[in-house]
Amino acid sequence: MKFQQLATTTALLAAVFGLTACVSAEDEPSKPSESFAEHMHGHLDQISAVKAAVIAGDLDAVREPAKWLAEHEQPAGMPSAWAPYVNSMRMQARVAVSATDLDTVAGAVSEMARSCGDCHQASGFAVAFGFDQRPPADVQNVTTQMQRHLWAADRMWDGLIGPSDKAWEWGTEMLSEVTLTSAQVTSEPAKEQQVDGLVQAIREVGNQGSTAPAGESRSAVYGRFLSLCANCHSLTGGGPAG
Ligand code: HEC
Ligand code: HEC
Repeated sequence: MKFQQLATTTALLAAVFGLTACVSAEDEPSKPSESFAEHMHGHLDQISAVKAAVIAGDLDAVREPAKWLAEHEQPAGMPSAWAPYVNSMRMQARVAVSATDLDTVAGAVSEMARSCGDCHQASGFAVAFGFDQRPPADVQNVTTQMQRHLWAADRMWDGLIGPSDKAWEWGTEMLSEVTLTSAQVTSEPAKEQQVDGLVQAIREVGNQGSTAPAGESRSAVYGRFLSLCANCHSLTGGGPAG
């Protein structure tokens, strides 16, 4: 909030005194501002870092990129019709910044991705992700099945942000094919039942996701999905390295 007020005040002062008043003689006379596409790539890097932190079960790693998304300046000259998308993106980013559990972040980052997709749709633009890359071959071991999970998660993510029905469908289809048994995932019998439940829940998310229409049903499915990754990695101590 403070940041926004400060930014507004600065903008007003600049308007009142003329921009040149703030620029010292040594500064470049007319330094071009970053392009809109560059700004968007910044968005993508930061929101993807939040998502990766959820998958890894790392709440601390959420804060910095979520704070950037909540506070960064929007590019100049943006049509005012797009403001609601930016506002909802920032609101969800603030939810992620102050969250005390990963389930909350999972929901918030999925809603943020929906705002990205909504604005792209509204502006008649679809981000072209390279989602035609092949998934890892279906080998029956935990590492490979996890890489297939990740592939599915990434396609569904592209599907939300693009937005792209095709990317979404590829991801959910893959999910419903993932095969894991609890004994593969944990060697502690006491945890098997819980792990079985999580594996089953992942398949259900794949099934629900494949019939979910574009929009909030999909981001809701995605939020549940990310929580499952986080929960099982916290439970088993597994997850992406790093
Ligand atoms: C206010 C509307 C709006 C919001 C919100 C928005 N985008 Fe965009 N985005 C656009 C527009 C318009 C373009 C097309 C820009 C152009 O013409 O290159 C774009 C383009 C992109 C591109 C492609 C850039 C390129 O290489 O051309 C990416 C990646 C992207 N957005 C990611 C995101 C992500 C991730 C989010 C959410 C965190 C997001 N955007 C939120 C409007 C928005
Ligand atoms: C049922 C429990 C469980 C669920 C659910 C789960 N994981 Fe995992 N994950 C594990 C375990 C255990 C490991 C460590 C496995 C190993 O030895 O490589 C792991 C490892 C990983 C790895 C590292 C694989 C590698 O290359 O070494 C990635 C990436 C991963 N998981 C992604 C995901 C994603 C994305 C999701 C959510 C869609 C998910 N996982 C859901 C248990 C789970």
